[in-house]
Amino acid sequence: MAISYSNDNDVPNNTRQPRKKEVDSAERTGLLKKTETDYDERQEQTIRPKTLDDYIGQSALKESLLISIHAATGRGEPLEHTLLYGPPGLGKTTLAMVLANEMNTNIHVTSAPALERPRDILGILMSLEPGSVLFIDEIHRLNKVAEEILYPAMEDFTLDRTIGKGHAAKILRVPLPKFTLIGATTKAGALSSPLRDRFGIVYRLNFYNEIELNAIIRRSAEILGIAVEPQGASTIGQRSRGTPRIANRLLRRVRDFVEVRRKGQKSINSAAAEEALNLFEIDPLGLDPTDRRLLSLIIENFNGGPVGVETLASALGEDARTIEDVYEPYLLQAGLLNRTPRGRTVTPNTLRHLGLTSLDDVVEQKKLISE
Ligand code: ADE
Repeated sequence: MAISYSNDNDVPNNTRQPRKKEVDSAERTGLLKKTETDYDERQEQTIRPKTLDDYIGQSALKESLLISIHAATGRGEPLEHTLLYGPPGLGKTTLAMVLANEMNTNIHVTSAPALERPRDILGILMSLEPGSVLFIDEIHRLNKVAEEILYPAMEDFTLDRTIGKGHAAKILRVPLPKFTLIGATTKAGALSSPLRDRFGIVYRLNFYNEIELNAIIRRSAEILGIAVEPQGASTIGQRSRGTPRIANRLLRRVRDFVEVRRKGQKSINSAAAEEALNLFEIDPLGLDPTDRRLLSLIIENFNGGPVGVETLASALGEDARTIEDVYEPYLLQAGLLNRTPRGRTVTPNTLRHLGLTSLDDVVEQKKLISE
């Protein structure tokens, strides 16, 4: 299987519209992201599972994908167009690469922001090999023109090209080889319905449980030659927000900590993992300072909510989309945040987690301080 890439960086700067502060939703912002290096990125590539067998977790999804793969291969056809959605870091890109590998075909990896001009998507479609996979990350950000080029390509494997101008213009149908489009998004709801309807297979990736994260950490540690005790892996797994990318990142940061601060210690145990993660301000539920600030803000400035995401974003100095796509999914799943029609609210769990007794006490304390 060959992997080729085209991404945002391939678009010359002079043709790219400046974008507002936006999340690269494939990445989580914050302390850990800032310490990421090229070396980390290369290690991330090394530990990516290559087969469905190596891919830990998402078992229901894997089982139905295996059926689809066997059925398609049996018919000698490419896999149907597949949409993968779910919070960042759960392995959508990895799964697309695994699928291409299982189908024994090549994959071209790109993302919607890199497909700004019609010729970006046209060029890629026209260079696809028969049966190969085209992976488009953040597919909800595709512009209208690119979407319209994709419709006939997905449905009939053709491109409609306009030749000539004005009255003399003609539409020429250009055949394309059969291919599989795999789209990934953190926001399935933001996809236009004509685009969503053209995917024959749609799967949601869920957060990973502790056992799965533990297995992922131990597998990665083995590949990277990091010695980690089972309890050490558990401690890292518990603070990984159900997300393999975070688990692998924390594993590397804890390794750094042990190398520098625990010279002579042979492996990562629970105590070392705990000390390192406390130092990095990752709490026992995996929340980082921004998560805690977001929750404290709802409590202290908005009496526990409800507060609209835009108001929250400006109070926090963050982008509303970053809050929605990156921070909220885990806080919702962990029962630390509620999304109501009138806005976000905290829960009794939030107060407990932040060591607060009751909302009334917080309000009372604030009054005392301001008097
Ligand atoms: N690394 C990242 N995600 C993984 C997964 N689901 N299984 C194994 N290793 C992984």
